Amino acid sequence: MGKFYITTPIYYINARPHLGHSYTTIAADCLTRYRRLKGDDCFFLTGTDEHGQKVAEAAQNFKKDTLAYADETVGVFIDLWKTLLVSYDDFLRTTEKRHTECVKKILTKLNESGDIYKSSYSGWYCVPCETFWTESQLTAKYCPDCKRPIEKINEENYFFKLSKYRDWLYEYIKQHPDFICPTSRYNEVKKFLETEELQDLCISRPKARLSWGIPFPFDEQMVTYVWFDALINYISALGFLNDDDSKMKKFWPADIHLMAKDILRQHAVYWPVMLKALDLPMPKKIFAHGWWLVEAKDLAQDEIKMSKSRGTVIDPRDIVQAFGVDAYRYFLLREFPFGLDGKFSAKALIKRYNGDLANDLGNLVHRTLTMVEKYFDGIRPHKKANETILKNSSKLIEEMEGLDKKVDAALEKLAFTDCLDAIWSLINSTNKFIEDTKPWQLNADKKNDSLAAFISLLIEILDIVAFQITPFMPLTAQKIKQQLLAEKITKGSPLFPRIEKDQ
Ligand code: MSP
Repeated sequence: MGKFYITTPIYYINARPHLGHSYTTIAADCLTRYRRLKGDDCFFLTGTDEHGQKVAEAAQNFKKDTLAYADETVGVFIDLWKTLLVSYDDFLRTTEKRHTECVKKILTKLNESGDIYKSSYSGWYCVPCETFWTESQLTAKYCPDCKRPIEKINEENYFFKLSKYRDWLYEYIKQHPDFICPTSRYNEVKKFLETEELQDLCISRPKARLSWGIPFPFDEQMVTYVWFDALINYISALGFLNDDDSKMKKFWPADIHLMAKDILRQHAVYWPVMLKALDLPMPKKIFAHGWWLVEAKDLAQDEIKMSKSRGTVIDPRDIVQAFGVDAYRYFLLREFPFGLDGKFSAKALIKRYNGDLANDLGNLVHRTLTMVEKYFDGIRPHKKANETILKNSSKLIEEMEGLDKKVDAALEKLAFTDCLDAIWSLINSTNKFIEDTKPWQLNADKKNDSLAAFISLLIEILDIVAFQITPFMPLTAQKIKQQLLAEKITKGSPLFPRIEKDQ
């Protein structure tokens, strides 16, 4: 038995969670559930990022006190995770004392060790992104990221010595090619370090300009830059520098930090250097997946990132209401390979639902249960395969016995689609096996032993399928298991009633 520590980004609470946020969170949930099945001791952390300009502005827009606003929106995240069956072990809000105290202790520690210094800064600043830009990074007076106007500012701030660790980080990344995944993202970070000079990171904001942040422990005029604060959640939640740091001892380093590619640099450059400066071991893996895109309203582009600021979001609750939570989870992890971008469309969702779920899985369960009810009075037969059955099933049995290995190999690489492919291949082979074996004929010919052996095998396969889909579709897995365990099995109602187009 091992340990498994996985994290999602902590989401900004200036907007309601959309399909994109749920993607990362469900992926993390799926991996955690899988590890729990394997017997690992798991810690799955998620939470909310509550400081900084964006949140302060959102509260102002609603004419609300910032913390009151935060309390409200956090509820929306927690409710959604409940609906989506997200089984996190801890939910951290960066406004909690356990976090703010940890951030302050870290600032003090890094200040004492000489990794933080004060200096005046004069240059360009994007207020909404809270990012500084150098002349060389700019081609015009707007932010290279969000394209909004930037401001010239001149102020004193605290800086964290990223540059001092550049060579160390570069070597570390080169020696650990699995540290940043997938490979395209690894290459991106490596290239960034090779081609751009690593600047020290400005980690304070003058209170006069932005007061909504964690106060600097050694300078009353300053609050902490939101990214420096946020990244620390991954260790503050474990009790780093706290009297009780037993979780830190048990779970650090993280096994996987999960996120999308938009926040790769903070995780693959700032965070490792912060950890190094604190003399902590590196996380084992930083995985930056792709984006869910939507059909563009802007004719110049075919598709754009799903995002609140562009007004192109899909609300997970709408989909769950129409298709159920398991279908939603399945679709997200099945539709395109983890790591690449993919486009959301209702048509694709309906196709997956009717095809993979109603036709393939739903049908297999339904016809098997129907046969137990019809041919065996609802009493589950237990019979070893005889010759008639073995003749047709050797390949199927091989596939059934090999599934576990395939699932392990796929999930080790976070290849959710490969994993589901392997499970569905077994489901489809089994459906084909039913057609080839023609149980109605066995019944008509009164070949009772063969029929019993045949159905025993189908049920064995359903047991395995129910087990393997548990991390993806916990409710469906539970339902199948319950149906199979009933004293008197009935066909029940279909797991996934087909959805017609006009619905
Ligand atoms: N608060 C920071 C993260 C701090 S982590 C120490 C932040 N928050 S966020 O609310 O903007 O969340 C960004 C993350 O949400 C992405 O990295 C990804 O996990 C998820 N996604 C948001 N939109 C998404 C898509 N359109 N597609 C896929 N994932 C998306 O950044």
